[in-house]
Amino acid sequence: MIKYDLSRRAFMKGAGAAAAVSTLPLSLVELAFADPAQNFTFGYISDSHIQHVKGAKFVRNWDRGLIRAVAETNLLRPRPDFVMFGGDLAQLGTKEELDHGAEMLSKLSHKLYCVMGEHDYYLDLGEYWSKLYGDHYYSFDHKGVHFVVLNSILTYDEWTFDRWPTAEQRMLEMAGLDNPNGSPFMVGEKQREWLAKDLETVDKATPLVVFSHSPIQKIYKGWNFWTEDAEEVQAILAPFARTSVIYGHVHQIQYNQIGNITFNSVMATAWPWPYPQSYAQAEHHLPKLTVPMNRADPFFERDATGWQFVDVGTGKVALEYNLYNNTNRRVAYNPVTGQPEDSAYQDPARQIAPQDHF
Ligand SMILES: [Fe+2]
Ligand SMILES: [Fe+2]
Repeated sequence: MIKYDLSRRAFMKGAGAAAAVSTLPLSLVELAFADPAQNFTFGYISDSHIQHVKGAKFVRNWDRGLIRAVAETNLLRPRPDFVMFGGDLAQLGTKEELDHGAEMLSKLSHKLYCVMGEHDYYLDLGEYWSKLYGDHYYSFDHKGVHFVVLNSILTYDEWTFDRWPTAEQRMLEMAGLDNPNGSPFMVGEKQREWLAKDLETVDKATPLVVFSHSPIQKIYKGWNFWTEDAEEVQAILAPFARTSVIYGHVHQIQYNQIGNITFNSVMATAWPWPYPQSYAQAEHHLPKLTVPMNRADPFFERDATGWQFVDVGTGKVALEYNLYNNTNRRVAYNPVTGQPEDSAYQDPARQIAPQDHF
C-alpha cells in the first residue's frame, strides 16, 4: 500500500534539514507497513575525503562538509537508529587524516558503522582504519533486516603487493580518475565465499541491505564506477526477494534495478563528480533508470554534495537526498512499477539534462 503524504515527513523536522527542504514542492511518498512500528530510518554520510595539508592544517571545505552532516544528523527527530559512513573518510589514507575524520565522526550521538573506501585503504591496506573501525567486511541484524557491509575496493594481488616502490605511490595511483595505472575494484573470491556463507542461514524472505563503496554494477570503468566481479556478487544476492545495495564512491545520485536487487548511491560531503556521459566521451553504462541530478557542476565544489536519510522496512529502501546547493531529491522503490523512481523527476518532461563538460 502506498500512502501519499503531502506534508513534510516528521523525520525532516530536524532544524538543519528543515531549512534545506522548506521550499520543496514535493509530494512525498511513504511506504506504509502492516505494522508501522517496524519502520525505521538510519542516517548515511559518505565520501568526506578529509585532506591533510601540513601540521594542523586540513582542507577546510572538506572538513566543513563532514562537520555539517554530523551536526544535522544529531538534530534529526525521530532519531535515526544508527549512522553508516560510506567510505573515503580520508583523501590519502594517512593517520592524520583518518584521526581528524574520526574525531569529527565521534561527535555523532548515534551508533556508527563504517564502509571501507579506496582512499582509506591503499596507503596501508586498511591497517590503521581497522584500529578505528574494526573489520573490513561484516554483517549485522537490526529490526528484522539483515545488513551486510562489503569491502568492494580490493584489486589484483599483483597490483596491490608487487608493482609499486612505495605505499604512497600505490595510494596516489589508486586515487586518480582516468589513470591508466589504476586497477579495477573487486570484492574478491575470499569475501564472496564469506558472503555466501553469511547468507546461508538467512531466510530468503528477510529484507537484505548490502553496503559497498563502489557500485556492485559496471557503470564506467575509467573512474572505477565499477566492480569487476559485480555479476558474481549479484548472483549471491539474487535468491533474496527484497535486496537493496547502497553505495558511495560515485559522488552523485544513481539508482538501478537488476532482478530483485535495487541499487541506490549516496552523495559525498566533499565534492560532486560529474556524470560520466557529461564529461568523458567514452563508453559508459549509467543505469537507464537514473535521472541525473540537476546541474551537478564539478567546478562548483559544493554543488550537489550532501547526505541522506534511508528508510527501511519493506526491504526496498527510500532515499531522501539533502543536497546543499541543489534541489533535494527523493528516490523510492515503487511497488507498482517494481523499480526505484525519483518522486519529482522520473517523468521525462520534468528532467533537466546535466551540463556537458567536454
Ligand atoms: Fe569518494
Ligand atoms: Fe571512493
